[in-house]
Formats: sequence, C-alpha cells, structure tokens
Amino acid sequence: MTTTHFIILAAGKGTRMKSDLPKILHPVGNLAMIGHVVHAVHRTSLGPKAPKVHVVLGDQADRVQAFLSTLPYDVSIVMQDKQLGTAHAVQTVVDHARAGIKPQDHVIVLFGDTPLIQPETISMLDKELANKDMVVAGMTPPDAKQYGRLVVNNLDQLDRIVEFKHATDYEKTISLCNSGVMAFQAKTLQKVLPLIQPQAETGEYYLTDAIEALRSQGALIGVVEIDYREAEGVNTQYDLAQAEVCFQNVMQTKMLESGVSLQNPSSVHFSFDTVIEPGTFIEPNVYFGAGVTVAKGTHIRAFSHIEGASIGENSIVGPFARLRPGTQLDKNTKVGNFVELKNTCLGPFAKVNHLSYVGDTIVGENSNIGAGTITCNYDGFEKYKTIIGNNVFIGSQSCLVAPVKLGDGSMTAAGSTVTKDVEADALCVSRAPQKNLVGKAKAFRVKKQSQKNNQGQLMPCVQGN
Ligand code: UD1
Ligand code: MG
Repeated sequence: MTTTHFIILAAGKGTRMKSDLPKILHPVGNLAMIGHVVHAVHRTSLGPKAPKVHVVLGDQADRVQAFLSTLPYDVSIVMQDKQLGTAHAVQTVVDHARAGIKPQDHVIVLFGDTPLIQPETISMLDKELANKDMVVAGMTPPDAKQYGRLVVNNLDQLDRIVEFKHATDYEKTISLCNSGVMAFQAKTLQKVLPLIQPQAETGEYYLTDAIEALRSQGALIGVVEIDYREAEGVNTQYDLAQAEVCFQNVMQTKMLESGVSLQNPSSVHFSFDTVIEPGTFIEPNVYFGAGVTVAKGTHIRAFSHIEGASIGENSIVGPFARLRPGTQLDKNTKVGNFVELKNTCLGPFAKVNHLSYVGDTIVGENSNIGAGTITCNYDGFEKYKTIIGNNVFIGSQSCLVAPVKLGDGSMTAAGSTVTKDVEADALCVSRAPQKNLVGKAKAFRVKKQSQKNNQGQLMPCVQGN
C-alpha cells in the first residue's frame, strides 16, 4: 500500500523578512503561514489514511513547535541543524528512520513560505505522479520576481530549473517559474538526493538540481502549471502583504458566492476561520479577527472590530463596536457604537447600545444596558464576574463593581455605582442625593462678571438670564 508523505520545509532563517519572528510564523489571514500549509495537506483527498506530515525545522524551532502543537493534527518534526539548502532539508527527513518513507511511497515537498496552496492542487499533483517519477508544479505569475525558472527543451520536456541568481539574461525572460511544490516517487527521491552537488559559492544543496540529475537518467518528469495566486512564495514583507491581499480576495469571493452581502468587499478583513452564514449584511471597514462566527440575518455595521466572538441570528452590531474574545451574542441582540464586550454573553434580545465596557459578564434575555455602563471587572490582580438576570434595566452611566449579581427584573438608577447584589425586581439607587441651590448659579455669574468688569476685561461667554 502506498502512503503519501508530505515534507514541509520550514527551517530557513527568512532573513529577507528583516524580522525577529521566524518567517513561517508570519500570519496571513491571522494564521501563521505554516499553519495554512499544514491545514491544506490535511484537507487533501488521498484516501482514508491520515497523511504523514513531516515538518523540517531549524531556526527558532521551539517557537515554531509551540505553534504547531496548537493545531489539531499529528505532525512529526525533523530538525535540520544547519540550513544547507532545500535538498539537504528533504534529505534530513528521508534519512530519518522514524519518518518511515518506503520506496513505494509518494513524497510531496511543500514550502512553509507558500501559504496559499490549496488541497485540490496537492491532490492533483499526487494523481499526476501515478505514471511519472517526479512532477514539478510551475506557475506564471505576472511578476516573476526572483523565482527559479523552468527551462523546457524543444520537445516540451523540462530540462532543468535554474535559480534566478544563476540564470542568463535569456533564462530570466522565461515566464514559467518554480512554485517549489514537487511530488516524487519515494524511490526516485532516495536515488537522486545523493547525486545533488553543493553550490560552489554557498555549499547549499538545491532541490531544484534534482531535475537535471534525473533527466540524465531518463526519468519521466511531468510539469503541471498551477494557479500562481496559490503558489507565490513569501520571502519579504512585501510578498507577505501581497499574499494577504490574495487571501482576502479569495475570502471575499467565497463570502459573496455563499450569499453574504458585502457592501465594499475589499474593505472587509477576514481571518482563515471566519464563518458567516448567508443572509448577513456587512458594511464597509469591518475587521474579523480569528475565531468569529456570524449567524444569518445579522447586520454588522461599519468600523467594527470582532475577534473570538459568536454572533447569533438577526443581531445588529456596530457601527464602531469592539467584540473581544469570549463574546457570545444570542439571537436578536444589539450592540451599538463605542461598545466593547469581552468574555461576555448577551441573552436573546439583550441590548448594549452606546458607549459601554462590559467584561466577564452574563446578561440575561431582554435586558438593556444603558449608555456609558462600565463593568469594573478588574482590581489590578484578578478578574471578577458580573451576572445580570433577565429583563434587567441598567440605567445610564452605571458602574457595576464585580463580583456582583443583579436579579431578574431589577433596575439601576442612572449614575449608580453598584457594589452589592441587587434582588430581583429591586431598584438600586446609589448616588449622592441631589441638592438644588435656588438662584446660586445666577449669583455666581453676576459675581464673576463684576470682577472681570472691574479689571476692564470682557467675559468670553456671558449667558442670558
Ligand atoms: C525556492 C526555490 C525557487 C522557487 C521558490 C518558490 C530552491 C533552491 N529554490 O527559492 O526555485 O522559485 O522557492 O517560492 O529550492 N528551507 C529549509 N532549509 C534550508 C533552506 C530552505 O527548510 O536549508 C525552507 C525555507 O524555510 C522555505 C523553503 O525551504 O520555507 C524555501 O526556501 P527559500 O530560501 O525561501 O527559497 P527561495 O529563495 O524562495
Ligand atoms: Mg521562499
């Protein structure tokens, strides 16, 4: 039985990124690039067996490993202590006894810095390998940058891949580029790797040199052209920004096709895992961070920032709302402008319409949180919970000092600071009693005016009687 092994190369330093973060941990759609590749290989359709995935790590391996351990997959890590090139990286896996690669297996090599590769493309390459020794995925991006070029002979066969820095002026005009994705019969790979010679200047072993070595042995090498939008590599911050644009375009198209209305699609930012049901309406300039689901009939108004939140059906959020992780809105909720919710559940028909911070809170069904309400959930050391029952009315500018509970049907008077639990159906009033000093305001103005007049200055603002 043939097993397909995936080798994901991710050991490079990524110096061209000019960043302390390992290159393959830079995010696209709020997921590290390597995460996209690992997800893609797990979504391929190569039969019932789980794929065998080997990730080659080197630079800052502990950070990358910590990230990989957050993914729901079994991934084996192989260390490449010295980054001696892409062929050397593959060799470290092939030599690794525990990798268990057998001659009859398939091996697909992918790069951790090529995050948008799609599972269907990977499956297609595996199928192409059925009657070939090796298959190379080429692409023709509008800007061929410094990609390796595929040199094809007059019989339409791939002769070799030339790296940009070694290419002649003519070879640099070739538009067919190496995406880096390659599929091998394992026995072919095992045979060719020892034949690859190090580069004279750098001592690096290039996987791209496998083609010339195999060609001289009469191997059958296929070339498949794949969509450059999923195959572009990320080497610089500029490339990363371009990959993000590409990813966002794909998400916009997917959302529109599935029945989500986007008023200005390119102004909406999606994450890799954003789920929005059809029949929702998204205004311009909305940011979906990781972990957001939005149910049907919901309207997200402009300039809202949402992450780690689930929004129930027929709700209205924004404009200018901020939903932080742990927010769960039930159906028919309303969250208005300049409202921040964190780790907070709103029951059905609950409303927080204006200028509020509500954190670590449960709000019951049909309750209304008035303008300017603040939950005081943090004492500088610990976080505390606020529990608000059903049909509660919180008056404007209330401070709810947690931990505190407000029973069903209770109310707080505007401006109250609530430090003790409020019984069901009780009205909590907690503010200084009001005193009206009759005529005192006018007397104050008259006094001030006469002082200014004596000093020969005009009052900036003189109010009528
Ligand atoms: C590589 C290809 C180039 C292709 C381009 C596509 C080679 C020699 N060149 O160039 O033909 O057009 O990708 O994006 O293959 N890596 C290791 N260990 C190493 C060296 C690299 O794991 O010793 C990993 C890197 O982390 C990266 C991948 O291999 O994920 C590719 O390396 P990179 O240095 O980015 O190669 P490119 O210059 O982009
Ligand atoms: Mg690269």
